[in-house]
Amino acid sequence: MRVAVVSAEAVPYSKTGGLGDVAGALPKALKKIGVDSVLITPCYLQTKGEYLWKLAIDDLWVDWRGLIYRAKAFYSEANGSPTFLIDAPEFFHRSSIYGFREDYERFAFFSHASILLLKRLGAPPDIVHLNDWHTGFAAVELARLSNYDPYWQKTHVVFSIHNLAYQGGFSLDELWKLGFGGEFEVNAFSFNGYASALKAGLVVSDVLTTVSRRYSLEIQTPEAGYGLDWLLRLRSNRLFGIVNGIDYEVWNPETDPNLPANYSKNDLSGKLICKRSLLESFGLPVDLEKPVFASISRLTAQKGIDLIMEIAGELLATGSYIIALGSGEWQYEQFWQRLRDYAPRQVGVYIGYNETLAHKIEAGADIFLMPSRFEPCGLNQMYSLRYGTVPIVRAVGGLDDTVENFNAVTLTGTGFKFQEFRADKFLEKIYEALFIYYDKELWRRLQLNGMNEDNSWENAARKYVQLYSMLKD
Ligand code: ADP
Ligand code: GLC
Repeated sequence: MRVAVVSAEAVPYSKTGGLGDVAGALPKALKKIGVDSVLITPCYLQTKGEYLWKLAIDDLWVDWRGLIYRAKAFYSEANGSPTFLIDAPEFFHRSSIYGFREDYERFAFFSHASILLLKRLGAPPDIVHLNDWHTGFAAVELARLSNYDPYWQKTHVVFSIHNLAYQGGFSLDELWKLGFGGEFEVNAFSFNGYASALKAGLVVSDVLTTVSRRYSLEIQTPEAGYGLDWLLRLRSNRLFGIVNGIDYEVWNPETDPNLPANYSKNDLSGKLICKRSLLESFGLPVDLEKPVFASISRLTAQKGIDLIMEIAGELLATGSYIIALGSGEWQYEQFWQRLRDYAPRQVGVYIGYNETLAHKIEAGADIFLMPSRFEPCGLNQMYSLRYGTVPIVRAVGGLDDTVENFNAVTLTGTGFKFQEFRADKFLEKIYEALFIYYDKELWRRLQLNGMNEDNSWENAARKYVQLYSMLKD
């Protein structure tokens, strides 16, 4: 089986969020279980030179809006699987990975170039696995090509939704300039008076997946469907929820090189060293008895920061520490900075993106806060489980699939989970967590329950293979 994974970001080449983690790890996990997988992703200005192992193709001619571009492709295996990085400076050498008015055009180019590149690489893939709106253009082009190009006739397309909130919208007038002028194509893209690359992907792909089971159900309702719930209901027999894994080599407290001390479920003493060092690095007075609450996230409404804002006063009143790492919307960045200024002996804040610090926080914290409004999967709650850091989550999407509420009688469960998006419900769980935290034996049990979970990619990759095989037969 030959599988090509196409993604706008992939670790370690590029990352702005969970999509990068997933697209980097899935092809590696597929390869490990014997699938011939290849990853296609852009080469950004931000992609480190050390990851570009060699120039594999220096004349990838891409016809584009009446011009011909000479793109290149670098080869690498830095993520643990064969990868081709499409290098086209006009499109990808920018100050950031996303955030430009013409993003739709940049990723339409990427989609088109990926298809040309795959054809250059030899035998056709059995499966092209596309991810999020950036690759919706490729889904439509592949649907068209399968009608007349023998090379593509046996290829099946899987389209994964990592976040339905990002739809890749642009003006319908642009469609023909991007090469999508046919009636079928215009219909596929058309959505409420504009063109949506995500919708097109959802319409034409053979199979749709989302990154958790619960999210696959939520997006079929008007509340979480972003106007596309009708389409997802229509295609529900082709829609599957496969919960993401996490990279057990990168996120492993036993070997993590970012930590001041390593630890395992048999000996958690290193975690206390991590906690001390974390508090010191933020210049906080060290009291190891007090719990450290942590948050790491993109600062957007999705992540439920509004709930944290509402309960911050009560949380500080418990005497706990709060450590936050994130960047994003101005009002949320302001909130964290103000909270730190208000309680500088209890709060540590880092506004920005910092991979090493994310590891240190996962290891040094006691409790991880993730009260998301919606969460297609979420990775940080799984990193937390692995690092013996207890997550408090809202029961949505992947958070619901991956965290089980702790029951102090049966001693089952891995974290704390509340249902409604309400500050009082969130606070109840915080108090419940604190109550258990101060009972050392119970807390240890809860930590170990989480550390014993298996959220490795191997499980998830096998489910993808089942799906691919179903299509292939
Ligand atoms: P999303 O993709 O919606 O942002 P996920 O939980 O799936 O949410 O993945 C987020 C990923 O990005 C995690 O690997 C997390 O550690 C990382 N991350 C988010 N914000 C930061 C930050 N400021 N610094 C470092 N890593 C971050
Ligand atoms: C998206 C979602 C997140 C998910 C990630 C990887 O960014 O917001 O919940 O974990 O994709 O699938």
